[in-house]
Amino acid sequence: MQTHDKKMPSSSTPLLYLCLLRVSCLLLLQEAQAAPHGGISLRSQHMALLHWKATIASPPPLMSSWQENTRPCNWTGIMCTAIRHGRHMPWVVTNISLPDAGIHGQLGELNFSALPFLTYIDLYNNSLHGALPVGISSLSALSVLNLTYNQLTGKIPYEIGGLQSLRVLELSYNRLTGHIPASL
Ligand SMILES: *[C@@H]1O[C@H](CO)[C@@H](O)[C@H](O)[C@H]1NC(C)=O
Ligand SMILES: *[C@@H]1O[C@H](CO)[C@@H](O)[C@H](O)[C@H]1NC(C)=O
Ligand SMILES: *[C@@H]1O[C@H](CO)[C@@H](O)[C@H](O)[C@H]1NC(C)=O
Ligand SMILES: *[C@@H]1O[C@H](CO)[C@@H](O)[C@H](O)[C@H]1NC(C)=O
Ligand SMILES: *[C@@H]1O[C@H](CO)[C@@H](O)[C@H](O)[C@H]1NC(C)=O
Repeated sequence: MQTHDKKMPSSSTPLLYLCLLRVSCLLLLQEAQAAPHGGISLRSQHMALLHWKATIASPPPLMSSWQENTRPCNWTGIMCTAIRHGRHMPWVVTNISLPDAGIHGQLGELNFSALPFLTYIDLYNNSLHGALPVGISSLSALSVLNLTYNQLTGKIPYEIGGLQSLRVLELSYNRLTGHIPASL
């Protein structure tokens, strides 16, 4: 508040003072909210999803709408939500829902750090192989992770226990080994 006081011209009326103060407080609040998102654009979310598709040996027909020249928010299995980001309300990818889709790929090829707004992942009954990537544990908004009926191998990463918003974790019918980590 000190810095704002110093910037105020001495001639200003109390009302103007109050308005300016409120506006700058609002801007500060919005900046604080925007900061954790690191300015990640829909474009980088788009690229991450396309990269994942490119690593899938023969992408199923359900993914044919996943194209370079269309918005990911309109792709089959993808849902976006408009979130507050500073003074803007950008669309961000929040849901991936492709159960029974015949995806033969690795979850580790999906760049989760480019998809920080994901709240919902349903890839029930596909053919995902390889490990459950540690990167999933960066999804602080993730509430549902449903990977039942896949071919995931290896251990459940300890870090998954750190997912603050997680309500549903379904990993049955995979080939996971080891213990359920104490963090869960
Ligand atoms: C969204 O997808 C539908 C059906 O695939 C299509 O008809 C529509 O034109 C698309 N909209 C945009 C903005 O791409
Ligand atoms: C899994 O999906 C396939 C189609 O890809 C379907 O034929 C099969 O019944 C599904 N299995 C389960 C357990 O839902
Ligand atoms: C994953 O996405 C982040 C954020 O967009 C980017 O900085 C990073 O380079 C990407 N990693 C890979 C392996 O593409
Ligand atoms: C999208 O995710 C939210 C939870 O974040 C869930 O309530 C909703 O049902 C999901 N919608 C679809 C179409 O998957
Ligand atoms: C997992 O996904 C499948 C397919 O969408 C759904 O039928 C099932 O209820 C989900 N399980 C949980 C615990 O949400």
